[in-house]
Amino acid sequence: MEHLEIQNLIGKAIEAKNTAYAPYSHFQVGAALLCKDGTVVCGCNIENASYGATNCAERTAFFKGVSEGKKEFQAIAIVGGKERESITDYAYPCGICRQVMKEFCRGDFVIIIAKSIEEYEIYSLEELLPHGFGGEAIV
Ligand code: THU
Repeated sequence: MEHLEIQNLIGKAIEAKNTAYAPYSHFQVGAALLCKDGTVVCGCNIENASYGATNCAERTAFFKGVSEGKKEFQAIAIVGGKERESITDYAYPCGICRQVMKEFCRGDFVIIIAKSIEEYEIYSLEELLPHGFGGEAIV
């Protein structure tokens, strides 16, 4: 992926972070998911008073995309940080979100974890979820 394309995706993730519904943790996460058809689907974390019902930003983006007919994904940008504070650390995706990526992404999927449009890290899903469990194991 080109640097400008990466920066554009991070910018969208930062915007999505601002829509987070996080009244309990006050930790806001934004994700921007680039589909192989070129469209970008954004997601934020959506918390719930029954904490277990909370949905992460990454899964919000995937579920929005899949429910709109997207099935092939190229990359995701993720940012996170405390509400009303600037982003100081990388927000790595949780295990459940990595498993959802495993369901819908192939080896070419690019995971961008950012602090800003200038400061980011890039991983493959294999790096973040080695020896993951996938559908091929049960068909
Ligand atoms: N969160 C995400 O949105 N993505 C992750 O991968 C990790 C955690 C959210 C869930 C919850 O609203 C808040 O961060 C604190 O756990």
